[in-house]
Amino acid sequence: ADGAAVPALVIGSGYGGSVAALRLAEAGVDVHLIEMGKAWDTPGSDGKIFANTTSPDIRSYWLRTKTKQPISNFLGFPLDKNVPRHTGILDAEEFGGIIVYQGRGVGGGSLVNGGMAVTPRRENFGAVLPTVDAGEMYGTYYPRANAGLGVNTIDPNWFETAECYQYARVGRKHAQRSGFGFVFVPDVYDWDYMEKEQAGTVPKSALAGEILYGNNYGKKSLQQTYLARAKATGRVTISPLHRVASVTPAGGGGYTVTIDQIDTGGTTTATKSVTADKVFFAAGSVGTSKLLVKLKATGALPRLNGEVGKGWGDNGNVMCGRANHMWDATGKLQSSIPTAGIDNWAAGGAFAEVAPLPTGIETYASFYLSITKNPHRAEFTWNAAAGRAELNWQTAWKQPSIDAAKTIFDKINAKEGTIYRTDLFGTYKIWGDHLTYHPLGGAVLGKATDNYGRLAGYPGLYVIDGALIPGNTSVNPFVTITALAERNIEKVIATDL
Ligand code: FDA
Repeated sequence: ADGAAVPALVIGSGYGGSVAALRLAEAGVDVHLIEMGKAWDTPGSDGKIFANTTSPDIRSYWLRTKTKQPISNFLGFPLDKNVPRHTGILDAEEFGGIIVYQGRGVGGGSLVNGGMAVTPRRENFGAVLPTVDAGEMYGTYYPRANAGLGVNTIDPNWFETAECYQYARVGRKHAQRSGFGFVFVPDVYDWDYMEKEQAGTVPKSALAGEILYGNNYGKKSLQQTYLARAKATGRVTISPLHRVASVTPAGGGGYTVTIDQIDTGGTTTATKSVTADKVFFAAGSVGTSKLLVKLKATGALPRLNGEVGKGWGDNGNVMCGRANHMWDATGKLQSSIPTAGIDNWAAGGAFAEVAPLPTGIETYASFYLSITKNPHRAEFTWNAAAGRAELNWQTAWKQPSIDAAKTIFDKINAKEGTIYRTDLFGTYKIWGDHLTYHPLGGAVLGKATDNYGRLAGYPGLYVIDGALIPGNTSVNPFVTITALAERNIEKVIATDL
């Protein structure tokens, strides 16, 4: 409520925010969690909370009048269509050189992502978070994060026969015939539930193509894990459709947080002011970075250091498809939850998810999202004249990612006598190099903050999300974001409360 005073305020309810809320509440601290997106707890007119990927509707996009589907075309046809402007679940946020996809709502990215829950190989960890003790992470915080998130693995016997993973078995065959390592990838989707979907005994979610706009069943998003436990403490208040606009030191100590309440059309309906002893920035890499560069430049937090906004990367994301021969059908029925990847990180700097293309028809296509070793880092800056934060990522900076992905797919194409699909991202365009699902950095650990996320210059202000990670995790990022948040909040609770 306007004028309230709270001990801890958390901005954003994704992985970092949910970990902070749970652990602070367990330590006896009352927490106010502010989330700009919707609560996603009420069914729409079709009786379901979330829309299907194959039929985007009012629920699907964050304040756009036309969908912006990651795969924009198919066999020559553009796929995007008009939708009413609404505070929908998936934000396709456009910067000069890149579209950054993000989840919006209570649960953040966990609402829209594939649930692939990957712990990086330990030998790669030094490059992921150079200032963090790997022994502690692999001994304590990665296991804690995996347990808290409900990570589980597919039954390999079921995988061998499940119709919905024919596409992944074709992916494995091609990877292995070219000599690449093929690994199963853990997920937070409930594999027992998916087996029942395949058996036809429960309502379908992954097998109905649900993913990008939410899963109605089966997936353990943060709503089912960390946030459920946080709510059960009785100490956490969540305010959806509230967007933090400013944080500045309060006269009597602590911080004044200015919050805009918005309606589902995105219009501000009220502005509130709350005082908090401690404020945790967990608005995601982009959300936290945008806020911090604005607050530094506009004089709300002038002592933030010069590292704020820097060190942003796209986790080297690049997509592509391959056209298979007729004898390598990938299946009409494809689970929307990927379950395996091709590991060529050590030799070629690429880890490629074998991803679904759940169109409901046989496409003879293999589809991949590669995570690559891309050295480019961009910076957020505040454009005072335009009144917005900008990111200086360049389109051409995806070239190292394409080169890394080619170390896998050029070889597979040569071996199989196949070609790249050119119809998925436009006309005659092979590479989906216009986007990322994995924004990381912008308030890097040990640079904009100390080694536990305390913002330089302002005691009581913390960063606790993907903004801390310097641009690349070598695998899908949310387990690392969660584990780092577990490590940092434990330290903060022990020493700062
Ligand atoms: P996250 O983005 O989750 O949460 C930030 C929250 O803050 C959001 O809910 C946002 O609305 C809110 N917010 C922002 N600004 C605010 C403000 N000013 N006021 C109030 N609230 C504000 N990763 C992975 O490991 N495996 C996978 O399979 C996938 N797949 C995948 C698919 C797709 C389509 C996407 C978009 C992303 C993925 N990811 C993924 C990435 C993963 O979802 C992502 O890395 C994490 O959600 C980031 O967690 P954070 O806690 O940093 O922020």
